[in-house]
Amino acid sequence: MTANSSQVPLLETRELSRSFGHGDHIVRAVERVSFSIQPGEILAVVGESGSGKSTLARLLLRLLDPISGQILLHGRDVTRLHGKALKAYWQKVQGVFQDSFAAFNQFYTVRRSLEKALNVMDYRPSRKERLERVEVALEEVGLDPVDVLNKWPHQLSGGQVQRVMMARALVVNPELLIADEPTSMLDASLRVTVLNLLSDLRKRHNMGILFITHDLGQANYVSDRLLVMYQGELVEQGPVEKVLEAPQHDYTQRLLADVPRLRSTDGFSTQATPEG
Ligand SMILES: Nc1ncnc2c1ncn2[C@@H]1O[C@H](COP(=O)(O)OP(=O)(O)O)[C@@H](O)[C@H]1O
Ligand SMILES: [Mg+2]
Repeated sequence: MTANSSQVPLLETRELSRSFGHGDHIVRAVERVSFSIQPGEILAVVGESGSGKSTLARLLLRLLDPISGQILLHGRDVTRLHGKALKAYWQKVQGVFQDSFAAFNQFYTVRRSLEKALNVMDYRPSRKERLERVEVALEEVGLDPVDVLNKWPHQLSGGQVQRVMMARALVVNPELLIADEPTSMLDASLRVTVLNLLSDLRKRHNMGILFITHDLGQANYVSDRLLVMYQGELVEQGPVEKVLEAPQHDYTQRLLADVPRLRSTDGFSTQATPEG
């Protein structure tokens, strides 16, 4: 790798914007957002409800078109990809969402759902390869393939559904995972499991992870860097400790004031682990 190519971020946005509606009823959901994420980095996006986090996720996943601005993957403009090229993009960039049960096709077994996710590959994997990839992905998220492969969504627990959805994102070996509040529907102990899973994925595969949350405690627990969104704008970004120790923006200071326990030594763990 040349010195130059090592500096090209995994993903970068430049002044990315998306609004909804028009005239007096315009909502600037994402307004000139610029940031980058490196391979192997966990970047948390925090902000209150309605601050534009999910819109940003959908833009990055190319499920929604920006009104202006750019998205670059390894320095290549991917803002307007469509068709085959967009499929190739989805091999590298995958997402998991908050309400995974709704995202799950109720008429497919786990195996079928995960095999379907392989449709974005640029070749058609053999039956054997498909099954292998599905099994590896399930093991990756700590599920026993034998136990869950032939189950229907309603036969899984909430924690299993969330992990199956993560496995579904992982079957194609993405380089970037966009996780939009993947823990918000889970109880405290499962939340920790999923957060630990994110850091394992980063370690094992050098995966970049954009972890969206409204919970500063979780962001602090798992991420390297923090982006703070407020009313569609990126108001602050930096290494987690730095932002939490010395928040520059009023809004970040207010967010922090709402989580007093974050500053205690055992901060997040007391919040998230059920005690005795
Ligand atoms: N499809 C849509 N149509 C109209 N407004 C939308 C749409 N999606 C999001 N919005 C608006 O954009 C703003 C940001 O929403 P969202 O990205 O979901 O925020 P967050 O995920 O941070 O809660 C909100 O005001 C929301 O109502
Ligand atoms: Mg959201």
